[in-house]
Amino acid sequence: MEIIKEQSEVRQYNGKLDFKNIPELKQVEADLIKVVSDSCGTIRNMCTHILEAGGKRIRPLLVIYSGLVYGENSPELLQTAVASELIHMASLIHDDIVDNSALRRNRPSINSLWGNNFAVLGGDYLFAKAFGILASRRLTSGMEYMVEAIQSMCVGEIIQAEDRFNCECTLEKYYEKIACKTAILLKCCCQAGAAAQNAAAEEIDLIGEYGLNLGLAFQITDDILDLCGSSELTGKPKREDLRQGIISMPIIYLLGNKANGQWVKSVIEQRQFDDDTISKICSAITKTGIMEKCYDRVRAHIDKAQKSLDKLPDSYPKDILYRLADMVYVRMN
Ligand code: IPE
Ligand code: IPE
Ligand code: MG
Ligand code: MG
Repeated sequence: MEIIKEQSEVRQYNGKLDFKNIPELKQVEADLIKVVSDSCGTIRNMCTHILEAGGKRIRPLLVIYSGLVYGENSPELLQTAVASELIHMASLIHDDIVDNSALRRNRPSINSLWGNNFAVLGGDYLFAKAFGILASRRLTSGMEYMVEAIQSMCVGEIIQAEDRFNCECTLEKYYEKIACKTAILLKCCCQAGAAAQNAAAEEIDLIGEYGLNLGLAFQITDDILDLCGSSELTGKPKREDLRQGIISMPIIYLLGNKANGQWVKSVIEQRQFDDDTISKICSAITKTGIMEKCYDRVRAHIDKAQKSLDKLPDSYPKDILYRLADMVYVRMN
């Protein structure tokens, strides 16, 4: 076990960073618990359910470390981080309704326990709470970044829904979708963190560039894990994207593969998603080297994200952001 920075609580275990014990994240966690315990009835039960299930807390980490690059910890920074996780939790609740998903963070999803109607309202409640927190501190920039992120998520989810089972989906369209539904929120978390510390406009742009590429890498990895990761690792149902007709990067490459494209297209168009066929698709993805090709794309985005950081002054928080990007490659959990 190597401790990467004496004064920090962030430690490195076998190449993985453990953030759970950093004081800033502990404060965020305490505030999240407070937000949830201030609510009551079914709303409280739903929020507690998803909060206690855990999660990687990558968005508050991005807010915090992007902010710490530009100044000491501040209440504004912490509250921005709290808001970012509330917005993320709301989006997960809504996403599980849209995707009709029964498992989230290794627990039954909110929609599967309380039904879609209550789940919509639970998600809305968390969005409202997040903006209440930002408004109470007059965090106008934070609000603007979070509005941008939520609008993009809605657009991304709609693009995805419209493109279900569409075998003509291009890589370009895939990128548009993952940028909107995932990467822009990560970008906005970094920008909101920097803005909370009064960073200059060009500094906010640079950190945003980092967040965007990290987000692209993050969603491509998530899509790969859906096909070849374990449900225990992701806490989500396995191989569900394809069953739902979601055409992700590995599938786009497979559709373009001479030996496999035709039969995979007919499987998708006829929606023949029995377990054997899905396994056959997964093994074709591995055998044709498509998995490596996707991971090369992930690596390229991580390299690009880290390159954006090169232009920032050296500091301990910058080092953590750099390492955080590397961890997306192996997916922390
Ligand atoms: C899940 O995000 C949604 C995606 C953008 C893929 P996370 O993988 O960060 O979910 P939690 O917070 O760790 O559960
Ligand atoms: C994540 O997309 C998008 C949002 C949560 C807005 P996914 O649908 O791939 O996320 P998971 O796999 O359900 O976490
Ligand atoms: Mg989903
Ligand atoms: Mg997914």
